[in-house]
Amino acid sequence: MSLKSDLLKKISDHSAAVGVVGMGYVGLPFAVEKGKMEFRVVGIDRSAKRVDAINRGENFISDVNDDELRDLVSRGLLRAVNDFDVVSDLDVIVIAVPTPLTRNLTPDLQYVENVTRELSKRLKPGQLVSLESTTYPGTTDEVMKPILETSGLTADKDFFLAHSPERVDPGNRRYTTKNTNKVVGGVGPDSLEVAVAFYSKTIETVVPVSSARAAELVKVYENTFRAVNIALANEVALLCDRMDLNVWEVLDAAFTKPFGIMPFYPGPGVGGHCIPLDPHYLEWKAKELNFNTHFIALAGEVNRMMPEFVRMKAWRTLNNLGVAPSNSKILALGVAYKKDLDDSRESPALVILKMLAEDGASLVYHDSFVTEFTHDGLSMESVELTEELIDSQDMVLILTDHTDVDYDWVVSHAKSVLDTRNACRGVTNHRERITLL
Ligand SMILES: NC(=O)c1ccc[n+]([C@@H]2O[C@H](COP(=O)([O-])OP(=O)(O)OC[C@H]3O[C@@H](n4cnc5c(N)ncnc54)[C@H](O)[C@@H]3O)[C@@H](O)[C@H]2O)c1
Repeated sequence: MSLKSDLLKKISDHSAAVGVVGMGYVGLPFAVEKGKMEFRVVGIDRSAKRVDAINRGENFISDVNDDELRDLVSRGLLRAVNDFDVVSDLDVIVIAVPTPLTRNLTPDLQYVENVTRELSKRLKPGQLVSLESTTYPGTTDEVMKPILETSGLTADKDFFLAHSPERVDPGNRRYTTKNTNKVVGGVGPDSLEVAVAFYSKTIETVVPVSSARAAELVKVYENTFRAVNIALANEVALLCDRMDLNVWEVLDAAFTKPFGIMPFYPGPGVGGHCIPLDPHYLEWKAKELNFNTHFIALAGEVNRMMPEFVRMKAWRTLNNLGVAPSNSKILALGVAYKKDLDDSRESPALVILKMLAEDGASLVYHDSFVTEFTHDGLSMESVELTEELIDSQDMVLILTDHTDVDYDWVVSHAKSVLDTRNACRGVTNHRERITLL
């Protein structure tokens, strides 16, 4: 039997042993999905805390169901380890480690490279390695393949190598790992065939493309599409401020057009692990080809302007009350980058709070999802949201529109509200207290 048919058979009868490197927002839901299909899954993570939690059956990712995780661990279908020794016993290894940017907005592939080096030391003929981390076109072929081939094995012949970008939208209940179409590209035809077979076992629709590079570009294009459209909405918000128009009214009316438009909204800036970072991966790679990605640069510029705009609107709002920013008391509502999520990575809220702290404002925040944070020397803990607290503040600054907050009640007790998310859209009383973005 050939290496390929052997692996295809193991995938088909679910006897393939699966390893997932990186037990985070992407890796853990994927590992659970594979376990639910009766694959034996091992999570590999350098965080001892995460490994121990999984082995105790304890969940730490909101998209994962607590009972499902506990059940899989108790049935021996999911376990986690701290090192890579297990790799030689695996048939499929999926990589979902971070791909951040350096301070100069260039790709930081150290996590992908470190993991690939660990795998290369233990690689066995017939294994499939699939990268799910978001990255620039060429990473799988130009960075991972040479490292893996230091094992003496040849890609697409002795082992299989593919890229299948993760599209998970944390907190989205409608589209999860299972029912979100999955794009797959291999470094050669055999790699594509086994990767498609593997992903088709758990994901309803798999979309093959002709190369790993094409799959890599698909993902960064998708996130660039979002970044550019959010930037356009943000730019219209900046213009509406000058025109004294309500941007939310204008956009909501525009989105009633049943074709040729899609809803994207302005906000205090972009956050999370994807939109602020991924387009710069593409921008960097394009420069290697002497090509300037103008839309990406412009979108980044506009989106990064938003925290400063919020600061300026906060000053204006306080000024209208006769309060100097340096003497002001501000309650921020929400610091997560997105509503109903516990993730504050790259959140513009943190940047805004840091700026307002530098202005001398006395700050408190409430976020039932993010109970504490440290950003650029500013450390804060969430406080309880009470009538007395709101009464005592000059301004309530809504930075994340979590659904567990009663905005009507907040407005009824606040002196002024600066709402960067249109969270108060349903509030009818005391609208004169609300300033929109
Ligand atoms: N979070 C999202 O919404 C999302 C969506 C789509 C794609 N992605 C992409 O998926 C990738 C992973 O993102 P995430 O949000 O799951 O990250 P995460 O930070 O939640 O998880 C990454 C995990 O990898 C582990 N890790 C790091 N280096 C390691 C190493 N050398 N060996 C073993 N484990 C290691 C970390 O301890 C962590 O548990 C990134 O490329 C990201 O851009 C993320």
